Amino acid sequence: MLFPQNMPLLRTLKCNIILPRIPFHLYNRNYCHSGAGESFVPFDALVSQRRNEARRSLLVEVAGLPSSVDLHQVCSQYGAVQKMFHYTTRQGSVNKEMILVEFDKAESLERALQSTRSPPIDRIIPVHSPFVWLSASQPAPRNRKANIGSSTDIIQETVPSDEELQLQLSQSRDLSEQIQNVYECQKLTELGSRLRFFTCRQVEVALSGLFPQACILPFGSSVNSFGRVNCDLDMILELFDVSNQDSTQRLVFQAKKSRSAANPRITMQRHMEVISDILDNFVPGCSQVRKILAARVPIIKYRQDLTDMECDLSMANRSGFYMSEMLYLYGSMDKRVRPLVFAIRKWAKDRHVTSPYAGRWVTNFSLTLLVLFYLMKTSPPVIPPLQTLIKLAGDDDVRTADGINCTFLRDLRIVTASDNKQSLEDLLRGFFEFYDKFSFKERGLSIVRGDDFVKPEHSALYIQNPLERELNVSRNVTLEELERLRTEITHARYRLEEYTQHIEEQEQQPWGLLSLWGTSRKPQAHRGLNASIDWQGVFHIQEQETPPTSNKQLNVLPVHAATKSNEKVPSNGEKARNNTKFQPVERTKMLKEELIMPSDLNGLVTKLKRNVVQKNANGRKNKKQKMNKVMYKW
Ligand code: GTP
Ligand code: MG
Repeated sequence: MLFPQNMPLLRTLKCNIILPRIPFHLYNRNYCHSGAGESFVPFDALVSQRRNEARRSLLVEVAGLPSSVDLHQVCSQYGAVQKMFHYTTRQGSVNKEMILVEFDKAESLERALQSTRSPPIDRIIPVHSPFVWLSASQPAPRNRKANIGSSTDIIQETVPSDEELQLQLSQSRDLSEQIQNVYECQKLTELGSRLRFFTCRQVEVALSGLFPQACILPFGSSVNSFGRVNCDLDMILELFDVSNQDSTQRLVFQAKKSRSAANPRITMQRHMEVISDILDNFVPGCSQVRKILAARVPIIKYRQDLTDMECDLSMANRSGFYMSEMLYLYGSMDKRVRPLVFAIRKWAKDRHVTSPYAGRWVTNFSLTLLVLFYLMKTSPPVIPPLQTLIKLAGDDDVRTADGINCTFLRDLRIVTASDNKQSLEDLLRGFFEFYDKFSFKERGLSIVRGDDFVKPEHSALYIQNPLERELNVSRNVTLEELERLRTEITHARYRLEEYTQHIEEQEQQPWGLLSLWGTSRKPQAHRGLNASIDWQGVFHIQEQETPPTSNKQLNVLPVHAATKSNEKVPSNGEKARNNTKFQPVERTKMLKEELIMPSDLNGLVTKLKRNVVQKNANGRKNKKQKMNKVMYKW
């Protein structure tokens, strides 16, 4: 081994997240008294633990994994090191080796940062931040007190490639196990979660001089437990919190009067202009900074190259955070919810029902609500409607944000487990069957009541916003896109039906989820990634009441001169938070040619239906008998 004798012993621990198989007959029958399980961690506790880790963490670029020995020794001068995670990120053609170091105490990190030096200032802008690099070793000063006795594992997480996932799925024992495996392989990893909170912390640190109370909270899939590895990072910035102040204090900060106090929206846009300039000019790793300030919820989009993630930063959107908490609670309520949502999100992504780009199609958020609604409609229900959680809420659960009541039960330990014992396979089939028959034309869906209702307006798809109940979260979805969704649902339903009937003939064929994803089909164009997109429509850009800056720069203009506004299409930020105001994007000729149209699929679906009917007519064993046969196989 390369390590010198006087170095602390470092072990490389390879954490492969492909888990050993779970005996599937045990899965989902393993209920405890509480639906969420005794190990349930309340959302607030989870967020505060992650924020705390981020406050004690340092991200260090190193020459390679062997430098971790050196790094451990350097860091140990300032205090005990608790954990070290290694990952590689790619910038252009260059790989960067990164180590996230977690100290035992925040003071140790402070000491480390106080001793950190800046490179020569003629080349760069020196910035104080927890993003550093480890320079080549120099002779150690005599008084250096390295914590020689300690050791720390270097944790590396391996995420299976698409090919590995496919292999694993093809070797799964049944569809339920496939669904569980998709979840285990694709869920956000420990490092992924830490890096998201750490990326938030970076912006807090950057603003802390003027705003020591600045708080950046992640929301969306980074924290709602439905996030995939590499999902984007949605953030809310709150510059100050005046709610918890002692109003009897005699000393009061001097402050400037806001220039556009009469219009809080313009004030917010001005603030975001400044923040985006700070990110663009000073904050290490931030690139491709763009301001989308005229959207209903103004956002700053950027890429954090060193933590390798796409970021959307908004201000004053705390209800989005509570929305994520609500989804987190539903994900925790029953072990089947997250795997099912993952499998359906993956199906929708692969069938191009959803897209990373905003537009007139269903978003992951809407799709998740569709799954939750279905799970409320099973018999017996897998999860209760939101109004049950609202009724159970205590005094500690009261929250309001932006004038919206976000009160619901937070501690799931008092919620008992569902009596529903269906397998993941049954639930997946049930999902497709349920929505294949659902009357989207006339009915809207509400997870608040756990029931459908007559649509109050003519949007193609009506999913009630669970917190702002007069809004439809899927108002952006056009009739054509809804039709595509329905057709894909019918297609999936009959694919699964066919798989059941041919189970013993399919040894060599893609089966179960693999047959749904259509791996053999030619790749389709990414919707929305096209220069002719109507940006005004996508972001619902309005004329500014008063230009926030003298040069009138606003809208989707890149901050960075080298970034063209149409190079990268914004993903989630404009989000359907733009809700009711979303405008459709024109489909281009190219997209028309490459997208599979509902009519194409109808042919396929019809064919599949015919197969099923034909085989039943031929007196083949019915589905139940077939399934029994499958069960006996192992
Ligand atoms: P990914 O596709 O993995 O990013 O999922 P996501 O849940 O993070 O979705 P997205 O980034 O599009 O949105 C982030 C969060 O914004 C969601 O989790 C919701 O809390 C909120 N959001 C998204 N779409 C809507 C919408 O249509 N209406 C409202 N009110 N909030 C939305
Ligand atoms: Mg997101």
